[in-house]
Amino acid sequence: MLERINETTEFLRSAGITDPDAGIILGTGLGGLTAKINNRTEIDYKDIPNFPVATVEGHEGKLIYGEFGRKKIVAMKGRFHYYEGYGSEMMALPVRVLKYLGIKSLFLSNAAGGVNPAFEIGDIMIITDHINLLPNPLIGRNDDRIGPRFPDMGEAYDKYLVNKALLIAQEHNIKVHKGVYLATSGPTFETPSEYRYFRIIGADAVGMSTAPEVIIARQMNLACFAVSIITDLGVEGKIGYTTHDSVIKEAAKAEERMTTIMTDLIASL
Ligand code: HPA
Repeated sequence: MLERINETTEFLRSAGITDPDAGIILGTGLGGLTAKINNRTEIDYKDIPNFPVATVEGHEGKLIYGEFGRKKIVAMKGRFHYYEGYGSEMMALPVRVLKYLGIKSLFLSNAAGGVNPAFEIGDIMIITDHINLLPNPLIGRNDDRIGPRFPDMGEAYDKYLVNKALLIAQEHNIKVHKGVYLATSGPTFETPSEYRYFRIIGADAVGMSTAPEVIIARQMNLACFAVSIITDLGVEGKIGYTTHDSVIKEAAKAEERMTTIMTDLIASL
């Protein structure tokens, strides 16, 4: 694993991706943030050795490096999901490569279904914790050079960044919630009973990503910050007909607000 991480990291360094301050992984329909990256270098995943190729529509499959405010960032436009059939190592590699490139913190976004009855479609939820119902991506042989066998998850989402983001949202008059993100495999959206169950066990929103990436990042001690865009509701009486297109459409509407929060937050690092 480490050999492949080093090979990919070296390839990206020689392509000009040097000393990024932060990494960003963007979810469904939220790739537009990358338009604000200046002096950019773009590399297709298919041209990066050892990288998986994203298969989902709305996920372009590009690594974009450049200046974002006063910081240098490397953004993954398009991510890898368990439901696409990738094994743990494939899921882990891109996040590990970002760490080996030198990022200190990781920012993530996703589209999610709201199961908290106070949520509305289009709301932004700042993730304070997660419940991972996907297989743990660290299952398998552990390489202690990458991180410990048994990583602590007591503060998976960085409290300082959460509090800073709440202040930024307030300054810009952007409504945000805080909440717990539950990761499930998909690719089906939930039945009404599954949504109810997820609410009962402590979730505020449910989606098909993010938690595995955060687990991989936390094993390497990266500070993580993540937001969900609520694109549909899993609340009794409010459950609509959900499609990938409806998720993309609703996510796009919240993109500008999310970008504002991410931009100021990264600038404040
Ligand atoms: N469930 C799971 N994943 C999702 C949802 C949902 O309701 N909405 C967007 N991603």
